[in-house]
Amino acid sequence: MQDLAGKHIVLGLKGGIACYKAAELCRALIKAGATVQVVMTEAAEQFITPVTMQALSNRTVYGSQWDAREPNNMPHINLSREADAILIAPCSADFMAKLLHGRADELLSLMCLARPIAEVPLLIAPAMNREMWAHPATQRNMAQLQADGATILGVGSGFQACGETGDGRMLEPAELLEDIVAFFQPKLLAGQQVLITAGPTYEAIDPVRGITNLSSGKMGFAIARAAREAGAQVTLVAGPVSLATPRGVARVDVRSAQDMMEATLSCVDAATVFIAAAAVADWRPAAPTAQKIKKDGSGKPPELLFTENPDILATVAQSARARDGRLFCVGFAAESHDLAAHSQAKRKRKGVPLLVGNIGPATFGQDDNALLLVDAAGTREIPRGPKLALARLLVSDIARRLKST
Ligand code: C5P
Repeated sequence: MQDLAGKHIVLGLKGGIACYKAAELCRALIKAGATVQVVMTEAAEQFITPVTMQALSNRTVYGSQWDAREPNNMPHINLSREADAILIAPCSADFMAKLLHGRADELLSLMCLARPIAEVPLLIAPAMNREMWAHPATQRNMAQLQADGATILGVGSGFQACGETGDGRMLEPAELLEDIVAFFQPKLLAGQQVLITAGPTYEAIDPVRGITNLSSGKMGFAIARAAREAGAQVTLVAGPVSLATPRGVARVDVRSAQDMMEATLSCVDAATVFIAAAAVADWRPAAPTAQKIKKDGSGKPPELLFTENPDILATVAQSARARDGRLFCVGFAAESHDLAAHSQAKRKRKGVPLLVGNIGPATFGQDDNALLLVDAAGTREIPRGPKLALARLLVSDIARRLKST
């Protein structure tokens, strides 16, 4: 998806071993539709060459405030005026200290200081040794930069080039891309606490076997990402899936429907929106055995008895919080035919104001989907597209409903 189409990013590189990641970041930004103007400091050129960055960005790199290519000889003004954002990645501890004091003795800092502060956001991806990161001076500088309007994208944790392990690594290019895309999304759900269930459940028969379904969790995870991009605090209760957690989303992993119910109920008191996207098993084996069920030689399969699982959505929708309007509940329906009629009937049965219908075989495991939004007034189709695009449309629909209630 071209999530950054039409955006012009000035990518500033300060000296640090994480410069090698900036090459891939530049590529990722361009793949997402952005144009990228690279600015490098002298120190950055010790780690990666301007040739690499020029080839990847398809633009000549700037490195000096005395660059005569600019007719007015003011690259710091010209470059900062055309940017939709300035992203410093990697940003060293020294550069944070420098920005904080408004120093401007080379092009990159000069450009940050000269940017129109209300129109050109400054995003910072720090990269440094763990001791440098933890130092009170760095933490103080970071807090002050945030107070001055910069957005700090955080750091990763793990093995560092110096051989030590801890916080301070620059985030991976894919993580930075996700954060930058999120940064540009409208904050339609600011202040909301969104709780989402996603994925299948797994109902044990014995310690090695169980019953599950083909839900991939992709739709629920896309909704979690879209809600976080829209500024909500998001908790994702996920059945057994192998999907990466969207950036900034709190994830609770569960296995069975009962686990999912328990996790949901323990988070729901803080929620203002509940979206049940999980494909919860309706039934579970009544008495899972502690030991593996063995063939007994008779040729007769074992008899399995089932018991009904709790309905998480219906339970939450009947809670006092939902009934007095503090919690907006959204259900899903995976149908094979008569989508509108079945979804409307399910919406009423579950007692929710909004139900999202989709065709089960056309969504399970797919990256694309199509949705039918069903409420008391009727239906609205969201045509087939990538699940993240649909999730963003669903989020903006929910935001509109929250505003009007
Ligand atoms: O009844 P059905 O399973 O078709 O309902 C689908 C909707 O109800 C989905 O939103 C699903 O997440 C939710 N559900 C639930 N707990 C169940 C069964 C379904 O929350 N036990």
